Amino acid sequence: PLVLVMVGLPARGKTYIARKLARYLSWLGVPARVFNVGNYRRRHLGSTQPAAFFDPDNPDGVSARRRMALAALDDLIAWLGAGQGLVAIYDATNVTAERRALVRGHLAAHGHSAVFIECVCNDPALVEANVRESKVSMPDYANMEPDRAVQDFRARIGHYERAYVPVGLEEGAFVRLIDVGEQVILHRIQGSLASRIVFFLMNLHIVPRPILLMRHGESELNAQGRIGGDAGLTPRGRAFSRALVAHLEQRFPGPPPTLWTSTLRRTIETISGLSWPSRALRNLDEIDAGVCDGWTYEEIAEKMPEEFAARRDDKLHYRYPRGESYEDVIERLDPVLVELERQRDPVVIVAHQAVLRCLYGYFTDQAPEACPHLDVPLHTVIELIPRAYGVAERRTVLLPPAQTSEPPPGPPTP
Ligand code: SIN
Repeated sequence: PLVLVMVGLPARGKTYIARKLARYLSWLGVPARVFNVGNYRRRHLGSTQPAAFFDPDNPDGVSARRRMALAALDDLIAWLGAGQGLVAIYDATNVTAERRALVRGHLAAHGHSAVFIECVCNDPALVEANVRESKVSMPDYANMEPDRAVQDFRARIGHYERAYVPVGLEEGAFVRLIDVGEQVILHRIQGSLASRIVFFLMNLHIVPRPILLMRHGESELNAQGRIGGDAGLTPRGRAFSRALVAHLEQRFPGPPPTLWTSTLRRTIETISGLSWPSRALRNLDEIDAGVCDGWTYEEIAEKMPEEFAARRDDKLHYRYPRGESYEDVIERLDPVLVELERQRDPVVIVAHQAVLRCLYGYFTDQAPEACPHLDVPLHTVIELIPRAYGVAERRTVLLPPAQTSEPPPGPPTP
């Protein structure tokens, strides 16, 4: 197990990064959980503590905050001890070397090592925006008018500033993130999991931009209820393609968005009417159905009933003979996802049901087990705008479903 210990003044994006990391790791199948000390304080001491509570010279506040910090840490250690978690994220300010030594000592006593993730933000406008956007709506300020809440939160930050000592080289492994996405400093980071986490963090930014997900138009094999293959579009699929081109041209009248397809005919044909540059990515190809490629679900149920039942019972882990599982698909989508996080321009992805379920599942924070069952219908544009907390979503149906050519309801879909 690995423990990531957040460090930084209030309103520097610690909680945003902690949650984002937990979501990414869970999506990859690495059980991860955030332990937020502020939540313990709100739960046990009440949510409306004035700024003076956070004054390092207020002995009652200091001892109450220490108790809350240890309560969260004990739960974190118990969670790891129960054996189900792999990455625990301790989300607190941890701004003094003393507090970090305490946390590290507790963890070491249980055989866990810590990596500090220090969030530094030198841009006052960014901090101010964060305070105004997310802090004044915290339960802490439920009954306070926004200007007074901002004033109180600034005073709270001031108390932490007086106590803050950045993580030192002698404190062990750390990642220092400066101005989200601008600069990353690494110290003693080792191992594949920690490296993967760092790679993800290096690509994060907080510029909101839309991500549009859509399946290809109906293919000849879709129309026959067959999975996989590399067929071209039906007349209905081509009608969707025309509607999609018009939709995208209207949606992006200025510079074209980044446009990705899979390497399969049906996605490339779907955007053939657009003059924008595009890239065909193999990692976006549909789940490989192995020996079942080109079959109908009825044929699978009839010829390989054990396989059919095994897939129905555990769609996330089930791997088609000589093909892939959803878990395999998530693994190969990892580089696409990190690239998606890195992009600051709008991105349009024309791909396939299984692949899009996995990407959609990440952005909407679904458990991995839920991904294979998410609703990603044909001929529908799903527009997502990831925000600091949560995601905004809009679905536009460009062609209504045709009873005759959609795969029949009932059996699981690819
Ligand atoms: C809080 O109580 O909101 C945060 C406690 C801390 O980590 O300093």
